[in-house]
Amino acid sequence: MKKKFYITTPLYYVNASPHIGHAYTTIAADVLARWKRQSGADVVLLTGTDEHGSKIEQAAAAAGVSPLAYADGISAEFRELWAHLDVRFDDFIRTTEARHKERVQAAFRRLVASGDAYKGVYKGYYCVSDETYWTETEAPPDEKGRRLCPNADCRRELKLTEEESWFFRLSKYGPRLLEHYKANPSFLLPSQRAKEIENFVAEGLRDLAISRTKVSWGVPVPDDPGHVVYVWFDALLNYVTATGWLPEGDSGAFPELWPADVQLVGKEIYRFHTVIWPAMLMALGVEPPRSVFAHGWWTADGQKMSKSKGNFVDPREITREYGVDAFRYFLFREMPFGNDGDFSAEAMKRRYNAELANDLGNLVSRLTNMVDKYLNGDLPGKPDLAKSPITKAALDAAPAIAEAMDRLAFQDALNRIWAVVGGLNLAVDQRKPWVLAKTDMDALRTFLFDLVGALRVVAGWTTPFMPQTAAKIQMALGVRLAKGPLTAAEVLDGRIQKSPPLFPRK
Ligand code: MSP
Repeated sequence: MKKKFYITTPLYYVNASPHIGHAYTTIAADVLARWKRQSGADVVLLTGTDEHGSKIEQAAAAAGVSPLAYADGISAEFRELWAHLDVRFDDFIRTTEARHKERVQAAFRRLVASGDAYKGVYKGYYCVSDETYWTETEAPPDEKGRRLCPNADCRRELKLTEEESWFFRLSKYGPRLLEHYKANPSFLLPSQRAKEIENFVAEGLRDLAISRTKVSWGVPVPDDPGHVVYVWFDALLNYVTATGWLPEGDSGAFPELWPADVQLVGKEIYRFHTVIWPAMLMALGVEPPRSVFAHGWWTADGQKMSKSKGNFVDPREITREYGVDAFRYFLFREMPFGNDGDFSAEAMKRRYNAELANDLGNLVSRLTNMVDKYLNGDLPGKPDLAKSPITKAALDAAPAIAEAMDRLAFQDALNRIWAVVGGLNLAVDQRKPWVLAKTDMDALRTFLFDLVGALRVVAGWTTPFMPQTAAKIQMALGVRLAKGPLTAAEVLDGRIQKSPPLFPRK
């Protein structure tokens, strides 16, 4: 029985080191996972690496090592980067693991047995870099007679290739897919992406070649030596193989996890995930995921960042300069989740100084310093909401923030959180507690504790984005960090501690 909230990221190729684009999707998944956990859900976050195919075989050959040794090294880099970026995943799957390969073969057998996989001959124009076949019409010859990869970011020359291949009867699933999109409006997210997919499917689908004879680095097709499973067919299955699923019957954690709640992908692999993947599942008798969400690209000077172009931003460089939390914050404040945007070092610096060092960081140090100086750090109990108009006003923003988080509208949520932070700063400027300290100590106490209450609420909201910073703020504000709900004593005895600057100015 479905019990858990299951979130997945794409499995990243291991032909080169991770860059900011990979970090973006994975941190987004972590933000969502932390938010859902905080809201009480039992969350499972899956990520991992996609390790088969000719691209990886070639990269390994160029490095003079075996494909697996090569994959070991880069897969570990991804894993280490996620630890560095505070991504709390529950499982990390590598497509070279036995638990995955066995299940891919079992799925293949099942499709052969049901007639949804059959053998034929494939002829087409093949892009080695993208592992994709293109038709004559999709890749017409250019003025020099060459056929180039239609993917604007690739444009490499295609090779005319003919090979015996296994096919998946994708064409048969068009009508069911269209019905599925219609009956499940939250399957294709964000919804402005739905039309393109619906049109693509409505035009008619071709069967898909799901085995290769030209590639040797892959999962062997069962009972047909010389064929390996097409890398996308192999990789897509990870989302169920990681749960212990087997086509013969539910097993492992599969029944608790499936259908996945949110599968996050970049827009360039949306079709794979919204057309091929649900059709594969239908053929295997498995329900499609509840939603597939495509986000946009980080670009560098307007071009997609990619390993092959070598124009990518290294997340480690940014975090060395600004820290992990500021990087996590920036990714979701700077551009709406779903759109494209340019990554600029100036924007990073500007937001760091204005929104983190000034708006939030300064507020925390000002407030904790005042409580320390004027009230000796004492916090007389939980603020009484009836006497805490500022905390109450902050809490009024909660439903809209929760709603934005649930929609994955992370920028919207952060904008609303910072509007509250702005309101708190304004309140300090207007009420001038340093004047109250000389005239009305009672009013000062009430005011400062009201601010503390509101800032505690803010810290809770920022936790999914900036877990370390939020914990520091909560500690400074006397909120004990506990696994479960706080006991009354824990809340009451918390003292306010002077907080050192959370974000030293750059
Ligand atoms: N291995 C396939 C996915 C298989 S999933 C069953 C793959 N791997 S990848 O290494 O190329 O990673 C692609 C993903 O990385 C994108 O879908 C996106 O999540 C992320 N990004 C890579 N470059 C990106 C940007 N420049 N900007 C934002 N995200 C991008 O495709």
